[in-house]
Amino acid sequence: MPPSDWVLRWAPLVQRGPVLDVASGSGRHARVFAGRGLEVVAVDRDPQPVEGVRVVKADLEDGSPWPFAGQRFAAVVVTNYLFRERLPVIADALEEGGILIYETFMAGNEKFGKPSNPAFLLRPGELLQAFSGLTVLGFEQGIVERPKPAMIQRLCARRGEFDGVRIPP
Ligand SMILES: C[S@@+](CC[C@H](N)C(=O)[O-])C[C@H]1O[C@@H](n2cnc3c(N)ncnc32)[C@H](O)[C@@H]1O
Repeated sequence: MPPSDWVLRWAPLVQRGPVLDVASGSGRHARVFAGRGLEVVAVDRDPQPVEGVRVVKADLEDGSPWPFAGQRFAAVVVTNYLFRERLPVIADALEEGGILIYETFMAGNEKFGKPSNPAFLLRPGELLQAFSGLTVLGFEQGIVERPKPAMIQRLCARRGEFDGVRIPP
């Protein structure tokens, strides 16, 4: 699968590493940032190797400690993954000025297919609430047609004061 349009849109704001790709899967987004010469760490319980990326195999839901305790990242990317209990630690993993890019399915997606389990679907506005300590740069929720019809929610936010970033086209 190609990288998400949302991640590509906001990726230019990420000018430095390290970048953390949470539940990285095939590593399609880890690859984007590594391809730009940034240090990237990808974590997944079943990670695919990606050239130039430090891949960490970890189960993020089994109650074991967060694998990056005490570490801060210049950017965190999460796509097509939700485990609510980890949202606070994801926010905490951002260094000052760090960028969060998040996109996943939301309530209503069950009309389009999977995921349909409410545990995997954001509630309306939930990313705004979960990351209310960050400065929102971009937020959308609703139906998309690409890469397949789905109900999604997506956020780009920054740790720190609003600093007048250029909105990507
Ligand atoms: C739908 S895929 C999304 C992959 C990638 N973020 C993307 O958008 O291409 C969901 C990913 O979450 C990972 N995952 C699911 N449960 C997990 C867990 N308990 N701990 C770590 N990773 C998990 C899966 O292995 C899978 O790679």
